[in-house]
Amino acid sequence: MRSKLLAGWLFLLFLLLACRGAPALAGPYADSAHGNAAAGVRRSATDAAGYVQGNCAHCHEQHASIAGVEPAPASGAASPFALFADNFSRRVAAPYNQADDFCFFCHAVSGSLQVGGITNYQYCRTFGGSTVSQVAGILAAFNLRSYHNLEDVRSFAAGRFSYFKSASNPCVSCHNPHRARRNREYPRDPAYSAVSRPTDHENLVTTSMGATFGSAYEPPYCTGTTREPASSGSAAAGRAATPDYVSFCTSCHNSVNQVYSSLYNRNLQRIDWWSASGAKHGARDRTDSSPSPTAAPPYNVNYDYLLSCLDCHEPHGSSNVTLIRTRVNGGELAGAITTPVVVPPDSGYGSDNQLGYLCLRCHLSDAAGTNQWQLVHHGGPGVLDAPYGGALNRCRDCHGNAQGPPRPITCGKCHFHGATDFWLRDKRPEMETGRRTF
Ligand code: HEC
Ligand code: HEC
Ligand code: HEC
Ligand code: HEC
Ligand code: HEC
Ligand code: HEC
Ligand code: HEC
Ligand code: HEC
Repeated sequence: MRSKLLAGWLFLLFLLLACRGAPALAGPYADSAHGNAAAGVRRSATDAAGYVQGNCAHCHEQHASIAGVEPAPASGAASPFALFADNFSRRVAAPYNQADDFCFFCHAVSGSLQVGGITNYQYCRTFGGSTVSQVAGILAAFNLRSYHNLEDVRSFAAGRFSYFKSASNPCVSCHNPHRARRNREYPRDPAYSAVSRPTDHENLVTTSMGATFGSAYEPPYCTGTTREPASSGSAAAGRAATPDYVSFCTSCHNSVNQVYSSLYNRNLQRIDWWSASGAKHGARDRTDSSPSPTAAPPYNVNYDYLLSCLDCHEPHGSSNVTLIRTRVNGGELAGAITTPVVVPPDSGYGSDNQLGYLCLRCHLSDAAGTNQWQLVHHGGPGVLDAPYGGALNRCRDCHGNAQGPPRPITCGKCHFHGATDFWLRDKRPEMETGRRTF
């Protein structure tokens, strides 16, 4: 272990001292986004010192020794890993500043040290066809309403993944900076994947959703009837072009790991995407062995589908809560989702139907486009699981109000990852069915 590390550092020193003008290296680094001879790393300070584009020295140097104009490590001492700035400040919550994370020095809309700057749009734009004005950089994405909390991610990864050191960068739990490729430029080729599973850091996630799940994965619409990612020409093309994000995300979010969130001050819901008794949006079948009459296209043709996590979530941050995308299945959400979704079971009935804006993208409501959901909950042709069976005097059991029109019942009462119908059962004991609602 130690000698391997030392060898790595000697190699690095060799590169820094001997290779300044040398052409880019061969191998996975040369194939990576950062090592790319035409599009890779390039800072003006190191440029001036004669390092070619893509050279390691644009990120690694001996503590602010080159020209002295780059940000000195805030600690005053040499940065861990001989990076040109401190790796991570361990700030506990957003807003983040550029100096909080080494990567933000380049991956930011303004003040980027990369010559010419870098534009990184949200997933739902680059791969999902959105044209709505959105943040155009990674730093800005992490400063939206919801985001992967960098210190929580760091502390989850530390001590769990062998390559992850105490001074490691939280971004590095999802990306290998020496391997990540330019998926943005080649959005329909998973060989250009930008991510590595935290449990397999030295490789990229190049296996596709199609290779892992076959036709159970139905890629959502992108623009018109083209599919994700990036206007793929057919469902088959789309599933072959999407990296297997289920395997990726479930490296951390699975049915075993406790994932702590400092925002919610609790462990997150465990997610069982893989088993036949888990989530219905995962491998668990829908109740009926026929296409659902309340499914929106393209999900109304077949049944027993499985979704990718990134069909609904952004990886970095979102203006919606819980990293929920602003564009899903070929259209923008009709409204923003701004209130936390998971509600404690004992907090009354609520009346928040914002989450319905997400469901509307793939499920049919009472009337096209309206965020009202009586049909699927009160039954109708082909709807098998409706919680309401028809007793007139029981409206208040679920809707909570004795008189007046039934207001919406907060969706997150019953719909969240891992939800069974406990809350419902509590209201109507005779309804026990072991149903899973999400
Ligand atoms: C929880 C995992 C995770 C974390 C943490 C994470 N990323 Fe990502 N990142 C992803 C995924 C998934 C993608 C989507 C693949 C893509 O866009 O090509 C992505 C994409 C990217 C992209 C390409 C965006 C584009 O233009 O398409 C960049 C750049 C990036 N991440 C940088 C970062 C930086 C910098 C950090 C830390 C501040 C970070 N990521 C933290 C998962 C993560
Ligand atoms: C390296 C481990 C890791 C990976 C991989 C990972 N996450 Fe997370 N995720 C976390 C941690 C830790 C938290 C809790 C802290 C926080 O809120 O960010 C979290 C929180 C979340 C939240 C809740 C955020 C909120 O504020 O409500 C969502 C949603 C989420 N992750 C989705 C994903 C998706 C989608 C992927 C795959 C693209 C993914 N995660 C991959 C570690 C990970
Ligand atoms: C985009 C910036 C970037 C470039 C370019 C880059 N690195 Fe790194 N490197 C990093 C970061 C960030 C880390 C720290 C990883 C962590 O946080 O755990 C690192 C860590 C390392 C380590 C220590 C690994 C360990 O596990 O202790 C070595 C060795 C290394 N880099 C060598 C190189 C070499 C050699 C090159 C060029 C072929 C290179 N790097 C190019 C960002 C970069
Ligand atoms: C010196 C500037 C610099 C730093 C520092 C830097 N990057 Fe990059 N990064 C780039 C450039 C340049 C590209 C390629 C942009 C392009 O393809 O047009 C890139 C591309 C990427 C991509 C591939 C995106 C895609 O799909 O095209 C990922 C992922 C990424 N960086 C993550 C990181 C992470 C994580 C860190 C911190 C550990 C980091 N970067 C630090 C300059 C930088
Ligand atoms: C990206 C598309 C998409 C979105 C967004 C979506 N769903 Fe689904 N949903 C599906 C698909 C596809 C199925 C069918 C799964 C199967 O065939 O096993 C499904 C199935 C279900 C089922 C099981 C139905 C049955 O017949 O057994 C429930 C319950 C459900 N969704 C609730 C929701 C709720 C609540 C929301 C909003 C918070 C939502 N869905 C958002 C695509 C989506
Ligand atoms: C077993 C629980 C249950 C019972 C009992 C029940 N409902 Fe519902 N109803 C729901 C659920 C769940 C929804 C979907 C969430 C929502 O929109 O409030 C719903 C939705 C509705 C809606 C659409 C509300 C909106 O604004 O979107 C109306 C109207 C409605 N129910 C009327 C009634 C009436 C009238 C009764 C009594 C005759 C009744 N419900 C009994 C569960 C129930
Ligand atoms: C009282 C509990 C409860 C509440 C509150 C509730 N639902 Fe449901 N919902 C259910 C149950 C139970 C099902 C059927 C589950 C199944 O088929 O697996 C369901 C099914 C659904 C489906 C899938 C319908 C289909 O096509 O098969 C959607 C979409 C949905 N609900 C949206 C919503 C929205 C939006 C809200 C908030 C306005 C909401 N629900 C509130 C219990 C609830
Ligand atoms: C149909 C859309 C949809 C898909 C697909 C989906 N999610 Fe979610 N996710 C949601 C919604 C809505 C919430 C907010 C309700 C909740 O917390 O469960 C959420 C919440 C979360 C949370 C926070 C849970 C908590 O305890 O607050 C995590 C973590 C998460 N998702 C990860 C994932 C991962 C990993 C996958 C893929 C295996 C995935 N999601 C697939 C819609 C989706």
